[in-house]
Amino acid sequence: MSREPPLLLFEPEVIEGAPASGTLEPLGEQAFVLRGFALPSAPDLLAAIHEAQAAAPFRHLQTPGGLTMSVSMTSCGPLGWTSDPKGYRYTPFDPLTNKRWPPMPPSCLALAQAASRAASLGDFTPDACLINRYEPGARLSLHQDRDEASLDAPIVSISLGLPATFLFGGHARGDRQIRVPLYHGDVVVWGGVDRLRYHGVLPLKEGVHPVTGAFRYNLTLRRAG
Ligand code: SIN
Ligand code: FE2
Repeated sequence: MSREPPLLLFEPEVIEGAPASGTLEPLGEQAFVLRGFALPSAPDLLAAIHEAQAAAPFRHLQTPGGLTMSVSMTSCGPLGWTSDPKGYRYTPFDPLTNKRWPPMPPSCLALAQAASRAASLGDFTPDACLINRYEPGARLSLHQDRDEASLDAPIVSISLGLPATFLFGGHARGDRQIRVPLYHGDVVVWGGVDRLRYHGVLPLKEGVHPVTGAFRYNLTLRRAG
């Protein structure tokens, strides 16, 4: 990780225990944490999550290896990510309801575009938004995001609710990982030379967040089609 001081993106806001919001922290050449970048949109994003889950409920997906994921997932936007014993894929229809995924909320799209620009990763038009819900103990094992047709588009990942420890590794599974604490309102963006870096989330610690209670939500926006 670079030792240069973080760049200031906007006027900092103080959250207890969290790094100052408004900073851009490099995780790699083309990978950054934008501290607090989603704070102004958080109420809209949470309302959008609640709306999406009413149409496309959270579910624990099965991996191709037959394991049940501890994170509950749903999606919104033209394409949704799904997994079952036949494999990982993006689909225009929710396999649970056989209906299209709920639309991508404008607040989500606008934030993802602004985050990509703030990280100098260019124009970004995501067509898939995966919504992850973590409860204490839920984790995401180390993986690469490689099911997307457009690997030249970045990934924008928004954290809401309880804090988590994000692992950011290299291009090989065994590469050293850095541990990045992520708080309500933080946004991680990675693309370009860092697009295929391994990443994951450590088991969520018990806690109660003033806005989301016992949950952490994560919105991951990608160009999948
Ligand atoms: C993901 O890798 O899809 C989600 C990462 C996160 O929850 O922060
Ligand atoms: Fe991922």
